[in-house]
Amino acid sequence: MKGIILSGGQGTRLRPITHTGPKQLVPVANKPVLQYAVEDLRDAGVTEIGVVLGNLGREEIQQFLGNGSEFGVDITYIVQGNPLGLAHAAGCARNFVGDDDFVMYLGDNILNRGTSDLIGSFEDGKFSAGIALQEVDNPQQFGVAELDDDGTVTRLIEKPDDPPSNLALIGIYVFSSEVFDVIEQLEPSCRGELEITDAIQGLLDSGKDIDSHVVQGWWKDTGKPEDILEANRLVLEERHGTQEGTIEAGAETMGHIDLQETSVIEDGAVVRGPVSIGSNTVIKSGAYLGPYTSIGPNSIIENTHIENSVVIGESEITSNGEVVDSLIGKGATIGSAEELLPKGRRLVIGENSNLRL
Ligand code: TTP
Repeated sequence: MKGIILSGGQGTRLRPITHTGPKQLVPVANKPVLQYAVEDLRDAGVTEIGVVLGNLGREEIQQFLGNGSEFGVDITYIVQGNPLGLAHAAGCARNFVGDDDFVMYLGDNILNRGTSDLIGSFEDGKFSAGIALQEVDNPQQFGVAELDDDGTVTRLIEKPDDPPSNLALIGIYVFSSEVFDVIEQLEPSCRGELEITDAIQGLLDSGKDIDSHVVQGWWKDTGKPEDILEANRLVLEERHGTQEGTIEAGAETMGHIDLQETSVIEDGAVVRGPVSIGSNTVIKSGAYLGPYTSIGPNSIIENTHIENSVVIGESEITSNGEVVDSLIGKGATIGSAEELLPKGRRLVIGENSNLRL
């Protein structure tokens, strides 16, 4: 079994963060989203991994993952270029996969209970594909599967008005190499992409059996800022912190705090976990970090309250204000305007930013 991780795409819903880097490297609890996928595949025994690259952030992704040895896997890079669809991205991996079966993992997805069960269920039968499903409240917004009593897939419907089930397809699939012939025959959908649901439907139409596995535990697609915050909350809730940094006497701390090396929570600061603080960061007197906050490396937080937020790193936040439910890009600074005249907020905001003041 090989693995491919789709790491192309445009990331339009995550702008402006994706103006300067790929969304797969946005950190959740101080770990890039892509690393969760690599580790999940590795833990399921899949160590030969093809990483499919788009036009955005190719070098950064290659620099981060290298040849994979740091993560216990062997990585091959495959260039897709323009994002012509999930099935197109899979098709680009044909030479890498050869005649093997393969897991296809969307590089912006995080799954907390791993893919082992999906792979095991696929390998137990004679299936041409296996799909991971999860119950959702709003199946109208997803690709939805109709199953028979054995859990074999009978039909897939994209964003149905009248859903046959509340089981949505999530971003992890298993395929035999038969799928490549189907992909070669596909026509672009009305949004101009080769759709993976059409490839699976093509296998069904030619009489192949498709397995399904309902995933337990949570799954998160991190395509939008609010999804990053939600994934950060879910990961922090479960992760128990390592404390390699320093908590000074006089600092008030409670709950799980992941404090990486050379970081300091100074006398007079208040930190209520679960919180993750990256390396070489200082939480100064007067700062308050509330639950479900991750502060990236090389940052300074002073006289500011931050809660349920992700600060990617290299930031100085000294605003005398409160920051909640926020995603702050790398290198961003938020200072105080209290002493300045005329009174008012001073903003330099990138294209497609969203603010609530
Ligand atoms: P999407 O989130 O569906 O697409 P996107 O990354 O272009 O985002 P947006 O809609 O905000 O513009 O992609 C899911 C994952 O698959 C993501 O990790 C990017 C990857 N992908 C590819 O590698 N190639 C592709 O052609 C597409 C469409 C996505």
